[in-house]
Amino acid sequence: MFTNSFFCVTVIVLVSIQNSNQVIRNVQLPSFLKVCHQSDPELSKCIKKSVDQLRPLLVHGISEFGIPSLEPLIIPELIIDQGSSAVFVKSTYTDIKVYGASRFNLRSVKIDLNKDRVRIKLFLPHLRVESNYNMNGRILMMPISGKGESFGNYSNIDATVTMQGERIIKDTETFFHIKDFYVDFVLGHASIELKNLFNGDKQLADDLPSYFPRCHVDDPELEKCLIEATKTVRPHVKKGVPELNIPPMDPLVIPEVTLQQGTNAVNYKMKLINATIRGLGDYEFTEFVYDPKTFIFHGTSLFKGISLVSNYNIDGKILVAPINGKGTLKIQLGPSTGSLVIKGELVKRNGEDYYNIIDVKATTKISNSTGNFDGLFNGNEQLSQATNKLLNDNSAELIKEVSPAIEEVIAKLITRLMQGITTNVPYNKVLPPSH
Ligand SMILES: *[C@@H]1O[C@H](CO)[C@@H](O)[C@H](O)[C@H]1NC(C)=O
Ligand SMILES: *[C@@H]1O[C@H](CO)[C@@H](O)[C@H](O)[C@H]1NC(C)=O
Ligand SMILES: *[C@@H]1O[C@H](CO)[C@@H](O)[C@H](O)[C@H]1NC(C)=O
Repeated sequence: MFTNSFFCVTVIVLVSIQNSNQVIRNVQLPSFLKVCHQSDPELSKCIKKSVDQLRPLLVHGISEFGIPSLEPLIIPELIIDQGSSAVFVKSTYTDIKVYGASRFNLRSVKIDLNKDRVRIKLFLPHLRVESNYNMNGRILMMPISGKGESFGNYSNIDATVTMQGERIIKDTETFFHIKDFYVDFVLGHASIELKNLFNGDKQLADDLPSYFPRCHVDDPELEKCLIEATKTVRPHVKKGVPELNIPPMDPLVIPEVTLQQGTNAVNYKMKLINATIRGLGDYEFTEFVYDPKTFIFHGTSLFKGISLVSNYNIDGKILVAPINGKGTLKIQLGPSTGSLVIKGELVKRNGEDYYNIIDVKATTKISNSTGNFDGLFNGNEQLSQATNKLLNDNSAELIKEVSPAIEEVIAKLITRLMQGITTNVPYNKVLPPSH
């Protein structure tokens, strides 16, 4: 089961529409089609009305116009290339059947006649999707790949459809021909099942390893048990748990991650390559609460000190000073606190309940820090020293500014780590009832 935090990144999808080369010629407009005039000052309103009138017909498609049936909507192929801060995944979906597309709610239609562009905003309450998938990529340092059937439920979808057209003049008549078609969407909630992920890697366990302690979900002292458990598993977490596809946490090596922000104080893009982080394994949980009624986890952990050594390249502005260059970055953090809130739900697969992560929020508190970028400004020593001094003199403010970018990466990391357990081990084996 995969969750929205993974897919919720706004993806830009390029859909290849069948028949897009077909130009409609000499067609008498059928009576169900409301005619909107280019000169109409309320052209958008007219089109919105026209689409609403068409909706019942769209369900079965309108063959005269090469408009396919919307129930189900069949899409031959869809390629999603995700290359955001922490996720590099390329997925190809084929033979896609989408149910629920005709229940769209048209929010707005904007037509730019000068640019031959139409932009439509839609809201879809629910979509059910069946397809074949082929996925290859990495979420931070953890590979993800597989091939098989995929099933998904998506709800509260806001979509923006942009159609770029061109005018074609034939027999003195002008036709609007759609050249490009983009869909940009944000999902409210997604629940996706990818069969045969990791190509059905049979090494993955369907239970927690024997050395993991069990806490009973109805234990009145559940928090105490969970905190104790985090201590017991600490040496294993440091080394990694291959049975559950959990990589070593101390040191944690991230092959590549991009941090990017654009606020008044900081405006930069920084790529870290082979970032080695030490100290994460020495966590000390002070709070680890789970509420089985709401499926929400709260946790707070202390870290004595965390260090990072990485190759970097950066370009931008930090605390109004320009910064660019590449080389080695070293950061040392003083005592720090990390807090997590994990929201989830139970979903059924093959008759068993699994915990499905809906959302992970991380917040950090870092007492003090020192850092050094070596190799800034093409090796200009003077500029480099001045910039490093500026950053260190203002480290408290700097930490405050860059925290959101770091917290986003931590949330992705935690999601993927937890999925090692939640996608493989049924809920009642992770937190069994006492009887
Ligand atoms: C999607 O919803 C249907 C109907 O509620 C359910 O049977 C199916 O298991 C769900 N699939 C996923 C992947 O959540
Ligand atoms: C990153 O580390 C890997 C494994 O140690 C190494 O093969 C690779 O060359 C490194 N990449 C860079 C850019 O240093
Ligand atoms: C943080 O502050 C403490 C106390 O002043 C100091 O001992 C420590 O070296 C500092 N750590 C870093 C990483 O700056």
